[in-house]
Amino acid sequence: MKDFIEEFTLTIDTKSNELGKLYEELGLDVVYDTHSIKVCSSSLARIISINEGIHVHTLISGSEDKVIYDTLGNKVIVTFLRSKSLISVGIITSGGDAPGMNSAIRAIVRICLKSGGSVYGVYRGFDGLINDYICKLGWDTETHNSNEGGTVLLSFRSKEFYKREGRKRAVFNLIKRGINSLIVLGGDGSLKGALILKNEWRELFRELLEEGKLDFLKDNNKEVDNKYINDKEVNDVYINDKEVDNKYINNKEDNNKEVNDKEVNDKYIYDIIIIGIPASIDNDISLCDFTLGCDTALNRVVESIDHLSSTMKSHQRVFVIEVMGRKCGWLSLMAAYSCLADYLLIPEDPPLDWRKEVLEHIEYGRKHGKPGIFIIVSEGALDRKGNQIDPSEMVDYIKKQNIDVRLLKLGHVQRGGPTSASDRILGTLSGIRAFKEIEKSIKNKSNTSKIVISSNGDIITKDLTEVINQNDIVKGYENNYDFKSILKCRGDLFRTSLSFYLCILQNKRQSKARCLEDLNLRVLVNNNIELQNKYINENTSISNSTVFNYRIGILQCGKRSSGMNTALNSVIQYCYACNIEPMCICNGLEGFMNDSLFKPEMYEFGNEFNNGGTILGLGVAECDIKKQMKKHNLKGLIIIGDEDSLEVLYEFKSIIKRRKCIENNLVKSYKDNSNTIESNTIDTCEEDIIKDNTTYSRLNTNEDIINNVEDNLSIILIPSSSINNIPMTDYSIGSDTALNTILKVSDCAKLSSLSLRRNVFVLEIAGVCGYLTCMSAIAACAFDCFIPERKYLISHLSETAHRLRQKFKDDKRTSTIIFRNEKTFCSISTESFCKVLETDGLCLFDTDYGVLGRLQEGLNPSPMDRINASLLGFKAVDSCKENNIGVVGIQGNQVVFTDIDKCMDNYDNIKKRVKDPKWFKFSNVCKLLE
Ligand code: F6P
Repeated sequence: MKDFIEEFTLTIDTKSNELGKLYEELGLDVVYDTHSIKVCSSSLARIISINEGIHVHTLISGSEDKVIYDTLGNKVIVTFLRSKSLISVGIITSGGDAPGMNSAIRAIVRICLKSGGSVYGVYRGFDGLINDYICKLGWDTETHNSNEGGTVLLSFRSKEFYKREGRKRAVFNLIKRGINSLIVLGGDGSLKGALILKNEWRELFRELLEEGKLDFLKDNNKEVDNKYINDKEVNDVYINDKEVDNKYINNKEDNNKEVNDKEVNDKYIYDIIIIGIPASIDNDISLCDFTLGCDTALNRVVESIDHLSSTMKSHQRVFVIEVMGRKCGWLSLMAAYSCLADYLLIPEDPPLDWRKEVLEHIEYGRKHGKPGIFIIVSEGALDRKGNQIDPSEMVDYIKKQNIDVRLLKLGHVQRGGPTSASDRILGTLSGIRAFKEIEKSIKNKSNTSKIVISSNGDIITKDLTEVINQNDIVKGYENNYDFKSILKCRGDLFRTSLSFYLCILQNKRQSKARCLEDLNLRVLVNNNIELQNKYINENTSISNSTVFNYRIGILQCGKRSSGMNTALNSVIQYCYACNIEPMCICNGLEGFMNDSLFKPEMYEFGNEFNNGGTILGLGVAECDIKKQMKKHNLKGLIIIGDEDSLEVLYEFKSIIKRRKCIENNLVKSYKDNSNTIESNTIDTCEEDIIKDNTTYSRLNTNEDIINNVEDNLSIILIPSSSINNIPMTDYSIGSDTALNTILKVSDCAKLSSLSLRRNVFVLEIAGVCGYLTCMSAIAACAFDCFIPERKYLISHLSETAHRLRQKFKDDKRTSTIIFRNEKTFCSISTESFCKVLETDGLCLFDTDYGVLGRLQEGLNPSPMDRINASLLGFKAVDSCKENNIGVVGIQGNQVVFTDIDKCMDNYDNIKKRVKDPKWFKFSNVCKLLE
């Protein structure tokens, strides 16, 4: 056993790369060799004693000093020297509480402690900072609440923090504890407060110093000195000039002189690192796609509207629903878009005359037999003059017209309830990212102020100042009622959803949509604004006599996933908006083959479109798609389906390619005045057919070939797969609903495990792809997850059991959950999986398990699935215009079309999943935090 080592070498097996990555994630430097990896300790966590030949995976399980056992059962002591860490983090949650804050807190606490840092919770937001409600947080401090909304650190809207004196006390309380970095979770006001604190920090520090309030620093206070004065590394970071420092500390007499010496003070003063994490249900932070909490709140709003629909339908009532959002209409817009509200009022898009418009919409709904009519009014809705629109006033006005109407103010219910999967994941990943940013800042000796934001499907950091400045610009527009500019500053998803929602709305009203011409948007779904405007300006009414541009067919196919009906409805709505005739095909490809088609009315499916089933049915059968498309005069076919449909498209494209090849040769032979096709042309094509594994070949006669040359058909797949295994899209329809469904089950499992004590619950997740397993494990704070994208040996299970033993030795009251995908450890069932764990766990814990199977597909689609389904539906209709064969998808915040060939390049046809999925980089997060 070595006494103190700065670096150690482990001889390990073929998994070295994988293991190395885990060490890298812990902030250690890793050097790879053929049979070994060399792990060098960073200044944050030094391994000071280690035995040779230990089971390597055990090393990553924590930074606590611990006794572990190698594969031969030998005792090994691994000690991490934590006191040398420079990181001392304070966490604040401020302003309106937001679901997802608790997940972020848990992640920060754990990753910080693992890295050997110390972490403090500041209770009651900035008020706690001022009044010193600050406590050290331990491994399990309050972090079991991460599935609940709210914040375990409490929140407060502090007025005192607006005063300089208040901030000065805050600075003092932080210095007192040696906290050198602050992570602030909150909305615009809180983040701005944090930035002000950062900007004033040095000045306030100096004032406190001059007032003698920081004398404890000079008295060589052990704890503080260790952090700020005596530690050479720290000195390097904060002080630099040792001479000045020594002089300052040791020479009491000179103190007064020194204190007045600005130069010396500057060297003495240390700066604070500020990291912001936007958290607000309003989703009103500039440059950020999603703030923590907005997805959960949207779930609450949409659930409420779903629940309302029964009484709405029964009484044929009108409901006016007030949705939260102080200045930003995101929540209202997304709720209106996902539930297709009959009318919407948001601050970004004020009406010309809401009284006239609201009656128009009620009238339209009534006339078309719509069972329930509802209007969403955002809390911050304004008219064009900037007057607040009061929903109560609206209700009174509607009542006066003898209409049965009720008001529903959703209020703070929207901020409550269980946290959605997205928010738990975003919270966890943002927390990790915030901590990494602090580490980086300390390493680079730069005292930053950054913000961790979700942007374009990723989690990135930006300068806090940049985001705050942008927010201030938007506020300026708000104060001037410059609605166009406000709209331009909202995210892509906001603008696209608004333009589509208005497009549908104007279908109903058949009058000019109010702001559409003003939007001047870079609409994600092609430039169909032109088409929309044409339609709007001509004030065309849709009637039976409408001459459609062309006709497209829509079918549902494959396995069920929630949101298929929403996609179907959005295709129909958008077809009508674009003057395209939609044709519904019943019972999938089977129905298509049997000519089972009908033309839907614009509101054919009433409120059913947000039902989680499939309205049309999912028949699968051999189908001559091209023949049927020609027969029914379809220019395009939109398939709402899964990976099987991918292959249908690929097959179709292959046939077209081969026909093109024949066509070229035909043209050549015609040119040569020859009426025959050279036999080798056919041979080449047939060869292709065999190569492509295609059985479909009907090109028998020359006549067939000539008939098939002119195609101009489009087939578009709307990816609909709850397991999210379709290429070229970050999300398939149904995957968000499935994640939320899994979490409901895992929350129950965790609760029952916790009651039993010393219990490990193993949840089996279905599907060929590990997306759901990995992401739900992160959201559920699982101990570990096993995904089919990784290969496992039985020794991995033993290693997990070793780690569990450690956990249960330390805390006998604990319990935990593990996610196992059904395709991992193929030869053993989940029951046997549990038995292995129990046996290797030396009976220190019991196990239970649950198998989700198809139940994980869930019920009605989540709001995100509805929104994605609608966006993809619109994009699919647009993509039909060109002669496209491919898949529409969500990539970051863009809605894109990808040709089927490119899709297949990114798809593993054997394993039926994406080749290098984006989410894979998160597959170690559970281990990192456990
Ligand atoms: O900022 C989030 C938010 O919920 C807004 O939507 C709402 O206007 C406000 O907070 C309500 O604040 P409070 O909880 O202080 O009443």
